[in-house]
Amino acid sequence: MRAVDIIQKKRDNKKLSDKEMEFLLNGYLAGNIPDYQMSAFLMAVYFNDMAKEELLKFTMLMRDSGDVIKFDEINRFLVDKHSTGGVGDKVTAVLSPILSALGMGNVKLSGKGLGHTGGTIDKFESIEGFKFSTAKDELVKIANKTGIGLMGYSDKIVPLDKKLYSLRDVTATVPSIPLIASSIMSKKLAIHSDVIILDVKVGDGAFMKNLEQAEKLAQRMIEIGKGAGRKVRVVLSNMDEPLGHAVGNANEIIEAIEFLKGNYADDLKEVVYTIVSLALMEKSEIRELEEGKEKIDEVIKNGSALKILGEFIEASGGNKELVNNYDLLPKAKSVMEIFSKKEGYVKKIKTEKIGKAAMIIGAGRAKKGDEIDHSVGINIFKKVGEKITGNEKIAEIYYNNNENVEEAKNMILEAFVLTGEKVEKQKAVLKII
Ligand code: URA
Repeated sequence: MRAVDIIQKKRDNKKLSDKEMEFLLNGYLAGNIPDYQMSAFLMAVYFNDMAKEELLKFTMLMRDSGDVIKFDEINRFLVDKHSTGGVGDKVTAVLSPILSALGMGNVKLSGKGLGHTGGTIDKFESIEGFKFSTAKDELVKIANKTGIGLMGYSDKIVPLDKKLYSLRDVTATVPSIPLIASSIMSKKLAIHSDVIILDVKVGDGAFMKNLEQAEKLAQRMIEIGKGAGRKVRVVLSNMDEPLGHAVGNANEIIEAIEFLKGNYADDLKEVVYTIVSLALMEKSEIRELEEGKEKIDEVIKNGSALKILGEFIEASGGNKELVNNYDLLPKAKSVMEIFSKKEGYVKKIKTEKIGKAAMIIGAGRAKKGDEIDHSVGINIFKKVGEKITGNEKIAEIYYNNNENVEEAKNMILEAFVLTGEKVEKQKAVLKII
């Protein structure tokens, strides 16, 4: 078998056999197939897609390139919630303690932020002493105690995805639905759970810019899950404005804690309540999504979800007192208030611009390996549908370095699209599949 023949076959839109897939992917992992041939293959996939059987085989080969982890020692209904990447997306920090308080467990691989999107690892690493576990034994210990098993990526899990993603990043082949679907699902299939719930972000700040694309991605991931014998549910959620109010790291942790104290932004609440209710349905505890609300309200009202978040922080090496004392989180030296020069109703907030503004003040990474400053970030005070009267405060920037702050301010001002017409408040959950 020769790699060039396999590339030619994909270029000519012909279906590859399992043996050809094995030859190509295992050969690439072993270093026998060079980057230039794999790049050509990825570009052929970009243009010609993969058939259902090809995509499943491709994903399974990626999954099996590393360890597959099963948590037999954790006696809970296990949920693996995954977001395709957003701005202000602190859902995991809010959702995990709620799932745990309701008797479930959240086990998943968590990622670092890149570009304009944030990552759960960075948000939690705002907490002094907090360490993400990459070792199974330690993870099981923490998850048994708290119901939360968030695991950092290691070279042992799906190493092929890491290698392929780096190549896709420099060959313009990231935005390919089958490649995104296999990349995400290989990591989901590498960790055992009772249900995988995917939060596919749709809009300006997301990979998927419109509902049609997002549905296609969702269907391909469900198809892979089915082929692998796993249950997959998908929530398509809006990314035409940042989720909630905080965009950054430490400030997102504060917003997550406030949520668990009952102070929430409506859009964040809609996403979290929907995902928890879907998990309860999959666990057969409720029959209709609406039945979840009362149960979730209860664990917020009685403080049990907040208590679990504190326990998780402590078990991971942080100080649990910070849930009541935000001074224990890193604080930026300066605050810049931003006032709108225009009047009107907020029609849209260009989310990617907000994410990039946060990135240039140090809250995110322009490229892999960049250091981030956990204390800096942006808080947004006006959401879509709200009215802005002249010279009203719309946002604040928390920063340590003057260098890019004026540019960030201008980006935030440009991100707010106003109109004279009244605007309907947007739905945060666009579709459930
Ligand atoms: N997230 C992933 O894990 N992989 C992709 O290809 C895109 C988003």
